[in-house]
Amino acid sequence: MDFEKFKSSSKLSVAPMMDWTDRHCRYFHRLLSPHARLYTEMVTTGALIHGDRDRFLGFNGAEHPVALQLGGSEPKELAECAKMAVDYGYDEVNLNCGCPSDRVQSGRFGACLMLEPDHVARCFEAMQNAAPSIPVTIKCRIGVDNQDDERFIHSFIDTLAGAGCKGFIVHARKAFLKGLSPKENRDVPPLRYDVVKAVKAARPDLVIVLNGGIKTLAEVQTHLEDFDGVMIGREAYQNPWLLQDCEAALFNADWRVDRESVLHAMTDYIAAAMPRGVPPKSVVRHMLGLYQGERGAKVWRRYLSTHAFAEDCRHDILLEALAAMPAPLPAPSPTFPTSQNDAAA
Ligand SMILES: Cc1cc2nc3c(=O)[nH]c(=O)nc-3n(C[C@H](O)[C@H](O)[C@H](O)COP(=O)(O)O)c2cc1C
Repeated sequence: MDFEKFKSSSKLSVAPMMDWTDRHCRYFHRLLSPHARLYTEMVTTGALIHGDRDRFLGFNGAEHPVALQLGGSEPKELAECAKMAVDYGYDEVNLNCGCPSDRVQSGRFGACLMLEPDHVARCFEAMQNAAPSIPVTIKCRIGVDNQDDERFIHSFIDTLAGAGCKGFIVHARKAFLKGLSPKENRDVPPLRYDVVKAVKAARPDLVIVLNGGIKTLAEVQTHLEDFDGVMIGREAYQNPWLLQDCEAALFNADWRVDRESVLHAMTDYIAAAMPRGVPPKSVVRHMLGLYQGERGAKVWRRYLSTHAFAEDCRHDILLEALAAMPAPLPAPSPTFPTSQNDAAA
């Protein structure tokens, strides 16, 4: 595994998000940012070992660099799934130690694993041994429940680093295993970037990616002064154009795509996917935020929400929606001197 390459490709990533970051969403995000590292939704080891593997693991070659996130806690099963990640061509495999949902806890994985760092270390070793050619990383919180001592996250990371783990994504909040829903657990516990910063300061040898509450390019740039990378979740999904701005600012100053060319590329993608039984709505639902903050954003959303879910929806629904948008405003006219300007001159 080329650690320096991994480090440089960790600068910007889109978070794993259940029901959101499926392969169609990732293909769309990739058009906006050729460099962002993309993560799958969490896939449980049980689903991969007993379920339809191709359905969970298949992806489009254009999605690279792409990471598979696993949910599980049995070293043998995790190793088997990490090997599958290599076989399918993933660039990284990540273990979820941050999800607080009840369903996940009953399977003894997700955030509750942070309470068992030695066991997570055994899981990590099994996965890395099974997938030696790609990095195995951990996504975690800064703590769980009443673990208020900041030494908790330092000790968790040191234990994993001792087992050989070099890459961590830290959601800068605690998780409460009881009393808060998964959604509340993404908003209620306060963000503590300072705690993650202290981890990076203590372990400059590790790749530490900051996650949680990052919404603007300016925030991304500020955090990159302290961290190896930033991971953006909800804002990348709800306002995907942010990825385009990040790509241009972080990787390629000449990078520009326009929304219309993205729509044409996604129309081709839908046309190719439909014969495989993928309805347009499965793709289009990830694109409702494409015009967020722009003129016509409401029309865009409303058109797609009304028409994309119809049985007879056609492959060119995105272009139909574009045609329904208000015409662009005329370019601003040159400023003519006003009497006030004249007076100032
Ligand atoms: C709908 C949704 C689903 C999520 N699913 C996962 C998941 O499968 N695995 C995971 O590690 N985190 C999951 N998360 C948490 C995000 O990866 C991220 O840590 C969290 O949203 C904080 O980042 P943000 O403030 O940039 O959104 C999910 C978040 C959302 C909103």
